[in-house]
Amino acid sequence: MDEDLADDSRRSAGQSDYICWLPEYSVGVERIDAQHRRIFAMINTLYTALSQPQTALPVRRVLEEMADYVSFHFDTERSYLGAMPGYAAHEQEHRQFIAKTDKFIKDYQKFSPDRLLRDILIFLAYWLKDHIKGTDKRQFASYLELADYNRQPTNHEENNG
Ligand SMILES: [Fe+2]
Repeated sequence: MDEDLADDSRRSAGQSDYICWLPEYSVGVERIDAQHRRIFAMINTLYTALSQPQTALPVRRVLEEMADYVSFHFDTERSYLGAMPGYAAHEQEHRQFIAKTDKFIKDYQKFSPDRLLRDILIFLAYWLKDHIKGTDKRQFASYLELADYNRQPTNHEENNG
């Protein structure tokens, strides 16, 4: 595998994963953490598609499923944070991510080059780790926890009703 795909968390985990979710990425809300972990897993599936072509994974479908799931995840974050101060700038980061990922997918669908898939993986891994640790966690973890706390009565009613 190319050096530019090297990743510290992969090495420390001693696995073939490209990125590894670590406790330091936790924003303190299990529902959000679980979604972040699933996005990590989807990126690792992309990595497997690139590094082990013999698996014949449908790269385009994996890419599109990941983009769909990330949109769903961003909707979840909006449901927690939409009314919080500073969220507009947070959502702008999400929009930029969606625009860039959409462009990657369109380019991949046109050309399917391995180089492009490497670029996608590098972008996804760095953006995700940066965004989770910086924006989601450092700036918004307390708001996420507050919103999660405020959602509890609703969840309780749903569970009982
Ligand atoms: Fe976010």
